[in-house]
Amino acid sequence: MGPEVRILAPAKINLGLAVLGAREDGYHELRTIFQAVSLCDRVAVRVARSGVRVNCPALPDLGESNLAHRAARLFLEKTGERGGVRIDLEKRIPAGGGLGGGSSDAAAVLLGCCRLFGVVPEPGVLRDWAAALGSDVPFFLDGGAAIGSGRGEVLTPLAPFAGAVAALIHIPPAGLSTAAVYRSLRSAALTGSERKLTILLACWQEGDLRRFARMLFNDLEPPAFALAPGLAAVKEALYAAGAYGALLCGSGSSVFGLFGSDREADRARGLLRGRIPGRLIKVHFLPARRRWGVVKR
Ligand code: C5P
Repeated sequence: MGPEVRILAPAKINLGLAVLGAREDGYHELRTIFQAVSLCDRVAVRVARSGVRVNCPALPDLGESNLAHRAARLFLEKTGERGGVRIDLEKRIPAGGGLGGGSSDAAAVLLGCCRLFGVVPEPGVLRDWAAALGSDVPFFLDGGAAIGSGRGEVLTPLAPFAGAVAALIHIPPAGLSTAAVYRSLRSAALTGSERKLTILLACWQEGDLRRFARMLFNDLEPPAFALAPGLAAVKEALYAAGAYGALLCGSGSSVFGLFGSDREADRARGLLRGRIPGRLIKVHFLPARRRWGVVKR
């Protein structure tokens, strides 16, 4: 067996998400704060004789449309490397939660393949490959905290949040389709979102979690809550258990709550056990990938 590159693929949450309008290309113009969190898939890539094969015990029927598969194919196509890629995927991030698991796996495959084949593309080139795979994929190349604009692929890095934070992410029994949530968005509800994001960013710079958490907002929450009415109760339950703020993750169906310490988050998890369907996972904000040296051979 040839050399292997192992790489962590973190989940993300969106701490604010403003939808500014529909675009001609079928996407929506966004402004969002992405934050990578410590719930991670494990990805390993190896050189194979030919083709791309993804082995994922949790999802045995992964087809060629899977993003990790597409990322490896795109890498081989763009670089002209001969040979194939074998990917082992250990899934911990649930699908359909709005946590970006598939996008993060794809970014990890791109980074892993570059390391495996000794390819060093210009950063702009790697970002273009990532954006061709999905709107959230470029964010996961470096992770950390960033403002996303365009359809989410245009990134401005943010300094880490200065205050202490622990988050609980609720994993509901059923996921939501991103496309379906965007389809049921009512544009009339969106005025003022850009201003809300500006205020949220000012609170981010201050690093006061209570003030920041009060300003959380996500324009995709109303349509997602309409499609899955049980989610509003989860959000309320997180507040009742002491969350400083709670919000839908991306297009859902996960909801997260923010707490000022591990102890507060653990206490809330204890209070909520058995009261809401699904699981609660405690996570922390992750710094940018370049600060935690991710790739291991
Ligand atoms: O880019 P990605 O494949 O992740 O997007 C999935 C779907 O979500 C798109 O086909 C589109 O319907 C919707 N979307 C959108 N605007 C965005 C991102 C995604 O309408 N900025």
